[in-house]
Parts: sequence; C-alpha cells; structure tokens
Amino acid sequence: MAIAFAIAIAGCGGDRSPVTPTTPPPTVPSDTLKAAATAQGRLVGTAVQSSLLGNGQYSAVVSREFTYLTAEYEMKWNVHEPAPEVWSFGAGDAIVGYATSQGIRVKGHTFVWHGATPSWVNALSPPDLRAAFERHIRTVAGHYRGRIHAWDVVNEAVADDGSGLRDTVFRQKLGDGYIADAFRLARDADPQARLFYNDYGGEGTGAKANRIYDLLRGLIAAGVPIDGVGLQMHVSANNRPPDASIAANIRRLADLGLMVHISEMDVRINNVPGTQDARLEAQRATYHDIVRVCIMEPRCEAITFWGFTDAHTWINGDSPLLFDARYAPKPAYTGVLDALRGR
Ligand code: XIL
Repeated sequence: MAIAFAIAIAGCGGDRSPVTPTTPPPTVPSDTLKAAATAQGRLVGTAVQSSLLGNGQYSAVVSREFTYLTAEYEMKWNVHEPAPEVWSFGAGDAIVGYATSQGIRVKGHTFVWHGATPSWVNALSPPDLRAAFERHIRTVAGHYRGRIHAWDVVNEAVADDGSGLRDTVFRQKLGDGYIADAFRLARDADPQARLFYNDYGGEGTGAKANRIYDLLRGLIAAGVPIDGVGLQMHVSANNRPPDASIAANIRRLADLGLMVHISEMDVRINNVPGTQDARLEAQRATYHDIVRVCIMEPRCEAITFWGFTDAHTWINGDSPLLFDARYAPKPAYTGVLDALRGR
C-alpha cells in the first residue's frame, strides 16, 4: 500500500500521460488482523524466523496482517552469545530492521531461559556465571536499546507443578534473586522497553498459575521493575483452560498493575476426534474464544501467535497455525478476525 501511495503521489506531478498497469493488483483480503486489532487498540503479533523474511509469500503475510513481531529463536542467549563475549546480532538486527521498516513493533525474546542457554554458560562457576549473566543482559539490551517495545526478561522460571521456582542453572548458582536481578539489569540497559515475565501452563487457574501470580506479586512488592506478563498459550483444541479461568487469571494479573500479553499462541488439532473439517472447526473455536477473552480485558495489550503458517511451526506433525502450509487462511484465521472485531 505504501508503494501504491508513493506512485499515486508521484503521479500528481506534471507528467499526465496515462499509466497502463502491466500487472493486476494483488488480491488481498478485504479485512486484516492488523486493521481489526488496531481498531481495538491491541497489538497482533507473530513469531518470525529471519531467514524467511526474504521469502515474498511469507513477508507479504507478515506485513499485511501483523503489528508486532517476536524472533522465534534468534534473540536467545545461544544465538546472541554462542561463545563467551562472541556476539551475534545479525539475525536479530534483520528482524528489528524489517519490523521498523514496516512500522511493526518488536517483542525481544529472551534474555534468561534455561531452554536456550549455551553449554558454556552451564559450565561456569557461580561467580563467573554472575559476571556472564550481567554482561549478557547489559550487552543485548544495550544493543537493541530504544528499538524494542517489550522484552521477555525471564522465560519459564516456575516449576511445572507450581511447587516453586524451576531448578535451573541460574537458580542453583545465582539464587532465587536472579529473577529480580535480571529485571533491574534490563531496566538500566534499556529504560524504554517494557519488561515482561513469560511462561506457559499458567494461563488459566491452577497451582502453576498461582505460583506465577505469587512470584510477580512478590517482585512488584519488592519494587522490581516489571511491567507485564506473557501467557504463552500453546494449547490443544480439545485440551485448553476454560475461558472463564483464563479471564479470571488475566484479571487478577491486571489487578497487580501488569500488562498481559498472550505471547505464543498455537492450537494443536491432531488429537481432536472426527473429520479434518471437525478439527479445523475446533481450532477456529479455540482461537476465537481465547482471543475474545483477551479483547474483553482492557489490559490484555497483545496477542502473538507462535508463527502463522503451518509450513513453519515448531510443533512437528500438526497444523496449529492460522494459515495452511500454502499460506491460505484457515477457519482459525476467521475465528481470530471475528474475535478482534468483537463478534
Ligand atoms: C521454540 C522455537 O519455536 C524453536 O524454534 C526453538 O528451537 C526452541 O524454542 N516457549 C518459548 C519459545 O518461550 O521460545 C519456544 O520456542 C517455544 C516454547
């Protein structure tokens, strides 16, 4: 559209010769997730892989539909700092540069996650890990300073059974205070970015959701700079938290003064019984209902999907996203659009 607009402006000059289009205009949907989310004052996002942004079919959907991007893996510790003080910002810069050129905001993901910690970090002594941890957050946050809407500062730090903190290398060698430390370091290094805690399995109510809530309440009470919480929302169409429990959980988190993002949504369908049409309908309903819960809650600022085409998903052997592998919108897309439109 920007190009068409530029051509239209250029065409207003002295040269009045008729312009004969050589190619038909591209067929685009009459409505988009971007338009619908923007009308609601929300961000609608997707995880992307930098290597795919040069694929025209892929980037056409990204720029048409989304207002928020997350790097699916290129802004994690194992990519950013694969060896001590060896920094690798090329892929992250490509994503941030692309987003900026399209007027799209970026969620940084993530400084501290046991799932993407390079082995050299795991092997450090406690004092050396402390130094590496501080240097990593300062360097990465400083590199992108001013260009990131929000950072997932700490990812998945609560144990799955909700009994306490997950027993990661960070907890073992730095103590439970590593979470607060990470937020303080991030705030110092990029004061503009909103700082998020991100996790899965605590979307509705339950032991893990309660433990995440207690963790965040404790951080806030201690004056730790935290602005929001991401609920990942990797769910199955036939195994998902009830809408009312997600709504209640978002409400209590919002009552702490936090922004809430649905941060990594995808909906698996392979184990839904019945026909493929029945599976796609269950997926549509799941996307619709959960996005609607977010739209009903003013502090639910963003909904990000963990990719958008079934051609590129981290879930092997399933079809969890809004577009099929040939980039055609699925019923799930209509479900999200309807929810964003308040239907
Ligand atoms: C996944 C990516 O999709 C994969 O490509 C990568 O190999 C591993 O991580 N929770 C998170 C994400 O916070 O970072 C994970 O992403 C999915 C689960």
